[in-house]
Amino acid sequence: MTQAPLCPISTAFTQLLGCDFPIIGAPMFLVSNAELVSAVSSAGGVGATPSLNWRTTAEFRDQIQKIKRMTNRPFGVNLIVNQANPRINQDLEVCVEERVPLVITSLGNPKETIKRMHSVGCKVFCDVTNLAYAKKVEDLGADGVIAVCVGAGGHAGPISPLVLIPYLKKHLKIPVVAAGGIATGEQVAAALALGASAVQIGTRFIATQESSVDMAYKNAILNAEPEDIVMTKKISGTPVAVIKTPYIEKQGLELNPIEAFLFKHPQTKKYMKMIRAYVGAKALEKAVAGPTWKEVWSAGQGVGLIDQIMPAADVVAELVQEYYATCERLPR
Ligand SMILES: Cc1cc2nc3c(=O)[nH]c(=O)nc-3n(C[C@H](O)[C@H](O)[C@H](O)COP(=O)(O)O)c2cc1C
Repeated sequence: MTQAPLCPISTAFTQLLGCDFPIIGAPMFLVSNAELVSAVSSAGGVGATPSLNWRTTAEFRDQIQKIKRMTNRPFGVNLIVNQANPRINQDLEVCVEERVPLVITSLGNPKETIKRMHSVGCKVFCDVTNLAYAKKVEDLGADGVIAVCVGAGGHAGPISPLVLIPYLKKHLKIPVVAAGGIATGEQVAAALALGASAVQIGTRFIATQESSVDMAYKNAILNAEPEDIVMTKKISGTPVAVIKTPYIEKQGLELNPIEAFLFKHPQTKKYMKMIRAYVGAKALEKAVAGPTWKEVWSAGQGVGLIDQIMPAADVVAELVQEYYATCERLPR
Protein backbone atom coordinates (compact mmCIF):
# COMPACT_ATOMS: atom_id res chain seq x y z
CA MET A 1 0.00 0.00 0.00
CA THR A 2 1.62 3.33 -0.99
CA GLN A 3 0.11 6.48 0.39
CA ALA A 4 0.87 10.01 1.51
CA PRO A 5 2.21 10.20 5.09
CA LEU A 6 -0.61 10.15 7.61
CA CYS A 7 -1.09 13.07 9.96
CA PRO A 8 -0.05 12.10 13.52
CA ILE A 9 -2.77 11.80 16.17
CA SER A 10 -1.62 13.64 19.29
CA THR A 11 -2.75 12.35 22.71
CA ALA A 12 -1.31 12.16 26.23
CA PHE A 13 -0.01 8.70 25.28
CA THR A 14 1.78 9.73 22.09
CA GLN A 15 3.32 12.69 23.92
CA LEU A 16 4.61 10.45 26.72
CA LEU A 17 6.04 7.85 24.34
CA GLY A 18 7.06 10.07 21.44
CA CYS A 19 5.19 8.03 18.81
CA ASP A 20 2.92 9.20 15.97
CA PHE A 21 -0.20 7.16 16.63
CA PRO A 22 -1.96 6.09 19.86
CA ILE A 23 -1.85 2.41 18.93
CA ILE A 24 -0.09 -0.32 20.89
CA GLY A 25 0.47 -3.62 19.06
CA ALA A 26 -0.44 -5.74 22.10
CA PRO A 27 2.06 -8.12 23.66
CA MET A 28 0.89 -11.64 22.77
CA PHE A 29 2.37 -14.88 24.08
CA LEU A 30 3.86 -16.89 21.18
CA VAL A 31 2.54 -14.40 18.61
CA SER A 32 4.56 -11.19 18.97
CA ASN A 33 8.07 -11.50 17.54
CA ALA A 34 10.79 -8.97 16.74
CA GLU A 35 9.44 -8.54 13.17
CA LEU A 36 5.88 -7.73 14.32
CA VAL A 37 7.02 -5.42 17.12
CA SER A 38 9.40 -3.43 14.93
CA ALA A 39 6.89 -3.22 12.05
CA VAL A 40 4.21 -1.70 14.33
CA SER A 41 6.72 0.72 15.88
CA SER A 42 8.22 1.76 12.55
CA ALA A 43 4.69 2.41 11.25
CA GLY A 44 4.15 4.95 14.06
CA GLY A 45 2.50 2.82 16.77
CA VAL A 46 4.21 1.04 19.65
CA GLY A 47 4.82 -2.69 19.10
CA ALA A 48 5.11 -4.80 22.24
CA THR A 49 6.04 -8.36 23.20
CA PRO A 50 5.96 -10.48 26.37
CA SER A 51 9.46 -11.24 27.74
CA LEU A 52 8.31 -14.85 28.18
CA ASN A 53 8.11 -15.34 24.41
CA TRP A 54 11.72 -16.47 24.71
CA ARG A 55 12.92 -19.48 26.63
CA THR A 56 15.72 -17.71 28.49
CA THR A 57 16.54 -14.20 29.64
CA ALA A 58 19.60 -14.26 27.35
CA GLU A 59 17.41 -15.00 24.30
CA PHE A 60 14.99 -12.28 25.41
CA ARG A 61 17.88 -9.78 25.54
CA ASP A 62 19.05 -10.84 22.04
CA GLN A 63 15.57 -10.18 20.65
CA ILE A 64 15.34 -6.76 22.34
CA GLN A 65 18.65 -5.85 20.73
CA LYS A 66 17.32 -7.16 17.40
CA ILE A 67 14.20 -4.95 17.73
CA LYS A 68 16.46 -1.97 18.43
CA ARG A 69 18.43 -2.70 15.25
CA MET A 70 15.20 -3.00 13.24
CA THR A 71 13.55 0.22 14.45
CA ASN A 72 14.60 3.42 16.14
CA ARG A 73 11.05 4.09 17.33
CA PRO A 74 9.60 3.33 20.80
CA PHE A 75 8.56 -0.26 21.56
CA GLY A 76 7.30 -2.17 24.59
CA VAL A 77 7.77 -5.31 26.67
CA ASN A 78 5.19 -7.07 28.83
CA LEU A 79 6.35 -8.38 32.18
CA ILE A 80 4.21 -10.67 34.30
CA VAL A 81 5.04 -9.28 37.72
CA ASN A 82 3.62 -11.95 40.01
CA GLN A 83 5.29 -14.80 41.91
CA ALA A 84 4.37 -17.37 39.27
CA ASN A 85 6.95 -15.79 36.92
CA PRO A 86 10.34 -17.10 38.05
CA ARG A 87 12.17 -14.82 35.58
CA ILE A 88 10.71 -11.51 36.69
CA ASN A 89 13.90 -10.14 38.31
CA GLN A 90 16.24 -11.08 35.45
CA ASP A 91 13.84 -9.91 32.72
CA LEU A 92 13.25 -6.61 34.53
CA GLU A 93 17.00 -6.13 34.68
CA VAL A 94 17.20 -6.56 30.88
CA CYS A 95 14.43 -3.96 30.42
CA VAL A 96 16.35 -1.53 32.64
CA GLU A 97 19.71 -2.13 30.98
CA GLU A 98 18.26 -1.99 27.46
CA ARG A 99 16.16 1.08 28.35
CA VAL A 100 12.93 -0.46 27.02
CA PRO A 101 10.76 2.64 26.39
CA LEU A 102 7.46 1.08 27.57
CA VAL A 103 6.95 -1.75 30.04
CA ILE A 104 3.45 -3.15 30.30
CA THR A 105 2.86 -5.07 33.52
CA SER A 106 0.24 -7.71 34.04
CA LEU A 107 -0.90 -9.46 37.24
CA GLY A 108 0.83 -8.98 40.60
CA ASN A 109 2.39 -5.88 42.15
CA PRO A 110 4.22 -3.54 39.73
CA LYS A 111 5.97 -1.45 42.46
CA GLU A 112 9.53 -2.64 41.80
CA THR A 113 9.06 -2.50 38.02
CA ILE A 114 7.83 1.10 38.19
CA LYS A 115 10.71 2.13 40.46
CA ARG A 116 13.41 0.48 38.32
CA MET A 117 12.06 1.63 34.94
CA HIS A 118 11.58 5.19 36.18
CA SER A 119 15.20 5.24 37.38
CA VAL A 120 16.23 5.06 33.70
CA GLY A 121 13.51 7.40 32.40
CA CYS A 122 11.24 4.71 30.88
CA LYS A 123 7.45 4.44 31.14
CA VAL A 124 5.28 1.79 32.81
CA PHE A 125 1.65 1.12 31.96
CA CYS A 126 -0.26 -1.56 33.92
CA ASP A 127 -3.01 -3.87 32.69
CA VAL A 128 -6.12 -3.37 34.85
CA THR A 129 -9.67 -4.66 34.75
CA ASN A 130 -11.26 -2.60 37.55
CA LEU A 131 -10.97 0.71 39.41
CA ALA A 132 -9.57 -0.63 42.70
CA TYR A 133 -6.46 -2.09 41.05
CA ALA A 134 -6.15 0.92 38.72
CA LYS A 135 -6.06 3.28 41.72
CA LYS A 136 -3.47 1.08 43.39
CA VAL A 137 -1.09 1.22 40.41
CA GLU A 138 -1.68 4.96 40.03
CA ASP A 139 -0.63 5.40 43.68
CA LEU A 140 2.46 3.30 42.98
CA GLY A 141 3.45 5.78 40.27
CA ALA A 142 2.34 4.03 37.03
CA ASP A 143 2.42 6.30 33.97
CA GLY A 144 -0.87 4.92 32.71
CA VAL A 145 -3.30 2.00 32.81
CA ILE A 146 -4.49 -0.35 30.12
CA ALA A 147 -8.20 -1.01 30.60
CA VAL A 148 -8.59 -4.64 29.54
CA CYS A 149 -12.30 -4.91 28.80
CA VAL A 150 -14.79 -7.63 27.94
CA GLY A 151 -14.19 -9.07 24.46
CA ALA A 152 -10.38 -8.99 24.72
CA GLY A 153 -8.12 -11.84 23.64
CA GLY A 154 -6.00 -13.43 26.39
CA HIS A 155 -7.21 -12.78 29.97
CA ALA A 156 -10.18 -10.51 29.25
CA GLY A 157 -11.80 -8.32 31.90
CA PRO A 158 -15.52 -8.46 32.69
CA ILE A 159 -16.54 -4.81 32.07
CA SER A 160 -17.75 -3.17 28.85
CA PRO A 161 -15.32 -0.65 27.31
CA LEU A 162 -18.27 1.75 27.03
CA VAL A 163 -18.25 1.88 30.84
CA LEU A 164 -14.73 1.02 31.97
CA ILE A 165 -12.91 3.67 29.90
CA PRO A 166 -14.92 6.73 31.05
CA TYR A 167 -15.18 5.27 34.57
CA LEU A 168 -11.40 4.97 34.93
CA LYS A 169 -10.93 8.32 33.22
CA LYS A 170 -13.26 9.95 35.74
CA HIS A 171 -11.36 8.60 38.76
CA LEU A 172 -7.72 8.62 37.61
CA LYS A 173 -5.27 11.35 36.69
CA ILE A 174 -3.05 9.15 34.50
CA PRO A 175 -3.82 8.19 30.86
CA VAL A 176 -6.14 5.28 30.13
CA VAL A 177 -5.51 2.94 27.19
CA ALA A 178 -8.48 0.93 25.85
CA ALA A 179 -8.09 -2.80 25.11
CA GLY A 180 -10.51 -5.51 24.07
CA GLY A 181 -12.22 -6.22 20.78
CA ILE A 182 -10.70 -3.24 18.93
CA ALA A 183 -9.91 -4.10 15.32
CA THR A 184 -10.94 -1.07 13.21
CA GLY A 185 -10.32 2.67 13.05
CA GLU A 186 -13.98 3.32 13.87
CA GLN A 187 -13.38 1.62 17.21
CA VAL A 188 -10.17 3.62 17.74
CA ALA A 189 -12.24 6.79 17.27
CA ALA A 190 -14.88 5.44 19.69
CA ALA A 191 -12.23 4.63 22.32
CA LEU A 192 -10.68 8.09 22.04
CA ALA A 193 -14.16 9.65 22.19
CA LEU A 194 -14.71 7.80 25.49
CA GLY A 195 -11.57 9.38 26.91
CA ALA A 196 -8.88 6.81 26.11
CA SER A 197 -5.44 8.17 25.24
CA ALA A 198 -4.60 5.13 23.12
CA VAL A 199 -5.75 1.65 22.18
CA GLN A 200 -4.04 -1.69 22.67
CA ILE A 201 -4.84 -4.12 19.87
CA GLY A 202 -3.96 -7.82 19.92
CA THR A 203 -6.18 -10.12 17.86
CA ARG A 204 -6.06 -7.95 14.71
CA PHE A 205 -2.25 -8.26 14.70
CA ILE A 206 -2.40 -12.08 14.78
CA ALA A 207 -3.70 -11.87 11.19
CA THR A 208 -0.56 -10.15 9.91
CA GLN A 209 2.23 -11.41 7.70
CA GLU A 210 4.77 -10.89 10.51
CA SER A 211 3.05 -12.74 13.39
CA SER A 212 4.78 -16.01 14.19
CA VAL A 213 1.84 -18.41 14.12
CA ASP A 214 0.74 -21.16 11.75
CA MET A 215 -1.58 -20.24 8.84
CA ALA A 216 -4.30 -22.44 10.35
CA TYR A 217 -4.47 -20.04 13.35
CA LYS A 218 -4.46 -16.93 11.10
CA ASN A 219 -7.25 -18.44 8.97
CA ALA A 220 -9.22 -19.32 12.10
CA ILE A 221 -9.10 -15.60 13.06
CA LEU A 222 -10.52 -14.68 9.63
CA ASN A 223 -13.24 -17.31 9.79
CA ALA A 224 -14.38 -16.94 13.42
CA GLU A 225 -17.42 -14.93 14.52
CA PRO A 226 -17.69 -13.09 17.85
CA GLU A 227 -20.02 -15.88 19.03
CA ASP A 228 -17.18 -18.39 18.59
CA ILE A 229 -15.11 -16.78 21.38
CA VAL A 230 -15.46 -18.62 24.68
CA MET A 231 -13.72 -18.28 28.04
CA THR A 232 -11.87 -21.38 29.20
CA LYS A 233 -10.22 -22.00 32.56
CA LYS A 234 -8.38 -25.02 31.17
CA ILE A 235 -5.29 -23.07 30.05
CA SER A 236 -4.15 -21.11 33.10
CA GLY A 237 -6.79 -21.68 35.77
CA THR A 238 -8.28 -18.23 35.17
CA PRO A 239 -10.53 -17.57 32.15
CA VAL A 240 -8.77 -17.09 28.80
CA ALA A 241 -10.59 -16.13 25.59
CA VAL A 242 -10.19 -18.77 22.88
CA ILE A 243 -11.83 -19.77 19.61
CA LYS A 244 -14.35 -22.55 20.17
CA THR A 245 -12.71 -25.36 18.21
CA PRO A 246 -13.83 -29.03 18.42
CA TYR A 247 -10.92 -29.65 20.82
CA ILE A 248 -11.97 -26.80 23.15
CA GLU A 249 -15.56 -28.11 23.08
CA LYS A 250 -14.39 -31.63 23.89
CA GLN A 251 -12.20 -30.40 26.76
CA GLY A 252 -14.93 -28.30 28.38
CA LEU A 253 -14.38 -24.81 29.77
CA GLU A 254 -14.34 -25.41 33.53
CA LEU A 255 -11.77 -27.00 35.83
CA ASN A 256 -12.79 -30.39 37.20
CA PRO A 257 -13.90 -30.32 40.89
CA ILE A 258 -10.55 -31.61 42.21
CA GLU A 259 -8.57 -29.02 40.22
CA ALA A 260 -10.97 -26.27 41.32
CA PHE A 261 -10.48 -27.30 44.97
CA LEU A 262 -6.68 -27.34 44.65
CA PHE A 263 -6.73 -23.94 42.91
CA LYS A 264 -8.58 -22.44 45.88
CA HIS A 265 -6.67 -24.16 48.69
CA PRO A 266 -4.01 -21.81 50.19
CA GLN A 267 -1.39 -24.58 50.34
CA THR A 268 -1.75 -25.82 46.78
CA LYS A 269 -2.94 -22.69 44.91
CA LYS A 270 0.55 -21.44 43.92
CA TYR A 271 1.70 -24.85 42.62
CA MET A 272 -1.56 -25.47 40.76
CA LYS A 273 -1.15 -22.12 38.98
CA MET A 274 2.40 -23.01 37.99
CA ILE A 275 1.47 -26.48 36.76
CA ARG A 276 -1.58 -25.25 34.84
CA ALA A 277 0.39 -22.37 33.32
CA TYR A 278 3.08 -24.83 32.18
CA VAL A 279 0.63 -27.34 30.70
CA GLY A 280 -1.44 -24.54 29.12
CA ALA A 281 1.65 -22.92 27.60
CA LYS A 282 2.70 -26.28 26.08
CA ALA A 283 -0.75 -26.71 24.49
CA LEU A 284 -0.66 -23.15 23.08
CA GLU A 285 2.89 -23.69 21.79
CA LYS A 286 1.84 -26.80 19.89
CA ALA A 287 -1.22 -25.11 18.44
CA VAL A 288 0.65 -22.05 17.11
CA ALA A 289 3.46 -24.10 15.58
CA GLY A 290 1.59 -26.23 13.06
CA PRO A 291 -1.41 -28.42 12.33
CA THR A 292 -2.66 -30.34 15.38
CA TRP A 293 -6.07 -31.57 16.43
CA LYS A 294 -5.50 -29.81 19.78
CA GLU A 295 -6.50 -26.42 18.44
CA VAL A 296 -6.05 -23.96 21.32
CA TRP A 297 -6.12 -20.51 19.75
CA SER A 298 -6.53 -17.42 21.91
CA ALA A 299 -8.43 -14.53 20.31
CA GLY A 300 -10.89 -11.79 21.21
CA GLN A 301 -14.35 -10.91 19.91
CA GLY A 302 -12.78 -8.57 17.34
CA VAL A 303 -12.39 -11.67 15.11
CA GLY A 304 -15.75 -10.73 13.58
CA LEU A 305 -14.19 -7.58 12.11
CA ILE A 306 -11.02 -9.12 10.65
CA ASP A 307 -11.08 -10.55 7.15
CA GLN A 308 -7.62 -10.14 5.65
CA ILE A 309 -4.03 -11.07 6.48
CA MET A 310 -1.97 -7.93 5.93
CA PRO A 311 1.49 -6.55 6.67
CA ALA A 312 1.41 -5.01 10.18
CA ALA A 313 2.38 -1.56 8.85
CA ASP A 314 -0.70 -1.61 6.58
CA VAL A 315 -2.90 -2.48 9.54
CA VAL A 316 -1.60 0.58 11.42
CA ALA A 317 -2.10 2.80 8.34
CA GLU A 318 -5.63 1.46 7.78
CA LEU A 319 -6.58 2.04 11.43
CA VAL A 320 -5.41 5.65 11.19
CA GLN A 321 -7.18 6.29 7.86
CA GLU A 322 -10.41 4.79 9.21
CA TYR A 323 -10.02 6.85 12.38
CA TYR A 324 -9.82 10.12 10.42
CA ALA A 325 -12.68 9.08 8.11
CA THR A 326 -14.84 8.30 11.17
CA CYS A 327 -14.10 11.65 12.82
CA GLU A 328 -15.08 13.40 9.53
CA ARG A 329 -18.39 11.66 9.10
CA LEU A 330 -19.70 11.85 12.69
CA PRO A 331 -22.97 13.79 12.78
CA ARG A 332 -22.70 17.32 14.20
C1 LIG B 1 -2.93 -14.77 21.54
C2 LIG B 1 -2.87 -13.76 22.62
C3 LIG B 1 -1.84 -13.82 23.55
C4 LIG B 1 -1.77 -12.87 24.58
N1 LIG B 1 -0.70 -12.91 25.44
C5 LIG B 1 -0.59 -11.94 26.39
C6 LIG B 1 0.55 -11.93 27.26
O1 LIG B 1 1.44 -12.77 27.18
N2 LIG B 1 0.62 -10.95 28.18
C7 LIG B 1 -0.36 -9.98 28.31
O2 LIG B 1 -0.26 -9.12 29.17
N3 LIG B 1 -1.44 -9.99 27.50
C8 LIG B 1 -1.55 -10.92 26.55
N4 LIG B 1 -2.63 -10.89 25.70
C9 LIG B 1 -3.60 -9.79 25.79
C10 LIG B 1 -3.17 -8.64 24.87
O3 LIG B 1 -1.97 -8.03 25.31
C11 LIG B 1 -4.27 -7.55 24.75
O4 LIG B 1 -4.60 -7.00 25.99
C12 LIG B 1 -5.53 -8.11 24.08
O5 LIG B 1 -5.16 -8.89 22.97
C13 LIG B 1 -6.46 -6.98 23.63
O6 LIG B 1 -7.64 -7.53 23.12
P1 LIG B 1 -7.88 -7.88 21.56
O7 LIG B 1 -7.15 -9.15 21.33
O8 LIG B 1 -9.35 -8.05 21.49
O9 LIG B 1 -7.36 -6.75 20.73
C14 LIG B 1 -2.75 -11.85 24.68
C15 LIG B 1 -3.78 -11.82 23.74
C16 LIG B 1 -3.85 -12.74 22.72
C17 LIG B 1 -4.95 -12.66 21.71
